Amino acid sequence: MPRVTYISHDGKQTVLDVPVGTSVMQAAVLNGIDGIVAECGGSCMCATCHVFVQEDQLPKTPEMELGEDAMLDGTAVPRRPNSRLSCQLVMTPAMEGLVVTMPETQT
Ligand code: FES
Repeated sequence: MPRVTYISHDGKQTVLDVPVGTSVMQAAVLNGIDGIVAECGGSCMCATCHVFVQEDQLPKTPEMELGEDAMLDGTAVPRRPNSRLSCQLVMTPAMEGLVVTMPETQT
C-alpha cells in the first residue's frame, strides 16, 4: 500500500498507508490528521483540503483539472506552484512516498 507523509504546519509528521483509489484527503480525515478540514467531503467545492506537494513529486500526481485549479484561487493561505487539493489526489502505486505539507490554516 503506498505511503503518504503528512507534515503539519508546526512540523509534526505522520505517515499513513493509503489504499490505491483513496484520496490523500480521505485518508487524512479517517485518521484524524490535523490541518485538513475537507468541508465539502471531496467534491472539489471548498478548498479546505489544501496541501503543498513536495516539489519534485508533482510529476507523479494526477493532472490538475480546471475545477481544482479554480478552487485553488480561493484557499485561505495563498496558493503556491506546488498547491493541490488533497481530495483530488487519488492514490496510485506511482504516488508511493508522497509528502504533503498542510498550510497554517484552511479557513
Ligand atoms: S474536500 Fe472540499 S475541495 Fe477538497
